[in-house]
Amino acid sequence: MISVTFQPYSVAYSGTIIVSAFEDRTLSASAKKLDLSLKGALTRAMATQGFSGKAQEVCLLLAPTADIDQVVIVGLGKESTCTPSCIEESGGCAFTHLHVQEALVLLDPLSNIPHPELSFAEGMLLRSWAFDKYRTVKPTKARQKLETLRVATANPGAAQKTFASCEYRIQGVLETRALVAEPANVLFPASFATRAQEVLAPLGVHVEILGKKKLEQLGMGALLGVAQGSTHDPSLVVLEWNGTPKNKTAPIAFVGKGLTFDSGGIDLKPQKGMEEMIHDMAGAGAVFGLFKTLALRKARVHAVGILGLAENMPSGSAQRPGDIVKTLSGKTVHILNTDAEGRLVLADALWYTCDRFKPRILIDLATLTGSIVSALGTEFAGLFSNDEQLATHLIACGNKTGEKLWRLPMTEKFDKDIDSDVADVKNLGTSGEGGSITAAQFLKRFIKEPVAWAHLDIAGTAWTRKDSALAPKGATGFGVRLLDALVQEYEAA
Ligand code: BES
Ligand code: MN
Ligand code: ZN
Repeated sequence: MISVTFQPYSVAYSGTIIVSAFEDRTLSASAKKLDLSLKGALTRAMATQGFSGKAQEVCLLLAPTADIDQVVIVGLGKESTCTPSCIEESGGCAFTHLHVQEALVLLDPLSNIPHPELSFAEGMLLRSWAFDKYRTVKPTKARQKLETLRVATANPGAAQKTFASCEYRIQGVLETRALVAEPANVLFPASFATRAQEVLAPLGVHVEILGKKKLEQLGMGALLGVAQGSTHDPSLVVLEWNGTPKNKTAPIAFVGKGLTFDSGGIDLKPQKGMEEMIHDMAGAGAVFGLFKTLALRKARVHAVGILGLAENMPSGSAQRPGDIVKTLSGKTVHILNTDAEGRLVLADALWYTCDRFKPRILIDLATLTGSIVSALGTEFAGLFSNDEQLATHLIACGNKTGEKLWRLPMTEKFDKDIDSDVADVKNLGTSGEGGSITAAQFLKRFIKEPVAWAHLDIAGTAWTRKDSALAPKGATGFGVRLLDALVQEYEAA
């Protein structure tokens, strides 16, 4: 990762300098000073390049003096609507324009945003990640050159401390991305579980792995049914972080869908885009990354994370449409489509979590339905909840972190849609309407109430088909920052 150091504003500037401007070319105070010392070169560069200061617009001024190699002016948009995530995205955007090993961020304090220079640096670090471990010839693209980032700030000592917590969060996000990007021949349930042992256990997370035998003894027929067509055995990983050992309150729980590959099974998916189904474990990946962050920053909270891991494959031993399976809860499920497998894995994982931990709150993350992508696109993840307060909290955390949520309804009518003629429930709605909602209704049947529960359908947000402001195309790491913000609300003061 890029190393970030802090320095006072008073240090003389040289090398590559990044400054900011709001819309209508209003340079920040430090940028104005620089402009003055450069005899108006920044003002002229903005005018010549037609730069107006819109969010994520960039203007480059090359070699204005013998000491200054380059000034990068980044647009922040309108000051009145600027948020921490706008600043992060501008940072990510500035990063893609750098071709040097070292740069100075020269941003000024803002009245409505606590530490814009830290948000900016966070955005740069997030955008700098790349998945190139399998390239034997590394891309020569300059984007990977940046090694040191110097950041001007009012109080360097304090900033260094505050930024440490940002770095823990970033490390969690990048851990999730690295897992999600991993191909399914490398990341399968057993290797995923091993990774938890290797990465999280040394940080103080208690890691428990339930293998196929144990799942059979427990009676997790739904999870086992999904995995039975694959040569890879399923697994359930239980993560536990207890940052408040003296406090015996019930834990907060996170459950992740971890399909290391979803071919659809006997109801095979079409060829186009099937390779992307390596990211069907992004829910479990987000829970994994979250626990890395919680452990690194020694969060004062009792949290459990449950990863439901399986591979959905067609074969002679695969589950068939028409099969009836018995879940851990005792309820039976009529399988109508083997591609609606995520809810089956979650049915057992959710019931297990409720039964064993009786959590205060329970949040599951899953790349559950294509319908959520039709409904909300890639800007919002779907939120479903049986608890007003939890839903409100989550939406607020989403707005704060930029990992935004949009709530969708749950009602008895939608619930009726999954009643089965031959079993207790079926894994597909009759009407074919509101597919994301009927999926959420299915999950709700495996929540042991009373527990405040929320389901996040991240099928549209976990993976991006084009480069975004904070991530190159592929895995986004969605959910880690959102849930880290939520956990902070539950932490002991
Ligand atoms: N993993 C998919 C959902 C998905 C779609 C994730 C696009 C990421 C991007 C899920 O298991 C699935 O196949 N859902 C089906 C459900 C249908 C058969 C009821 C879908 O959405 O088509
Ligand atoms: Mn599927
Ligand atoms: Zn799936």
